[in-house]
Amino acid sequence: MPPGPDRLAGTGGRPIRSVVFSEATLARRVEELGREITAAYPDGHLLVIGLLKGSFIFLADLVRRIERPLQIDFLVASSYGMARTSSGAVQLRYEPALALEGKHILVVDDIIDSGRTMTELLDWLRRRNPKSLSICALLDKQLAPPPKELRFLGFTAPNAFLVGYGLDCAEDFRHLPYIADLD
Ligand code: IMP
Ligand code: MG
Repeated sequence: MPPGPDRLAGTGGRPIRSVVFSEATLARRVEELGREITAAYPDGHLLVIGLLKGSFIFLADLVRRIERPLQIDFLVASSYGMARTSSGAVQLRYEPALALEGKHILVVDDIIDSGRTMTELLDWLRRRNPKSLSICALLDKQLAPPPKELRFLGFTAPNAFLVGYGLDCAEDFRHLPYIADLD
């Protein structure tokens, strides 16, 4: 379904080629992911770590669908700067304040593109000796074999530049309630 005029207004007049995942499609899949995660951790006590900024909307919706005790923290990693393609150099700008050792860690990410950001973050997290380490990603462009920790996946994504629902282009478009292909 194409976005209505009110939604297009949120793009500041810049062209959006098409809506790839509508608000309703995202909500349905996030609810299912919540059920999958609830079933996968019968005892709960998860530490959900969101990768900022891209995962903030997805994480906020997802954790409200996980019916287990959990805590939430964040990691800020930056690899893209203002470019549309990955520079490959991952920088950590904020580390979780909560202790990671012995925890069931669930990393929540928006999109796996080259997979380089995730590979480096997984190395960093493994060194903190969690009890378990799994990833829940909303989207995977499948440009590389997925890491073995990718246990929960929302959708496979087209190899296009996507924005909305947390995903940005040079910090714009994160607030769109759907995911769109940018012209
Ligand atoms: P990777 O290291 O190449 O896998 O890049 C992963 C990160 O780049 C994601 O967490 C996003 O923040 C960003 N990214 C990758 N593809 C897109 C896209 O299509 N739109 C917006 N951000 C993207
Ligand atoms: Mg980004």
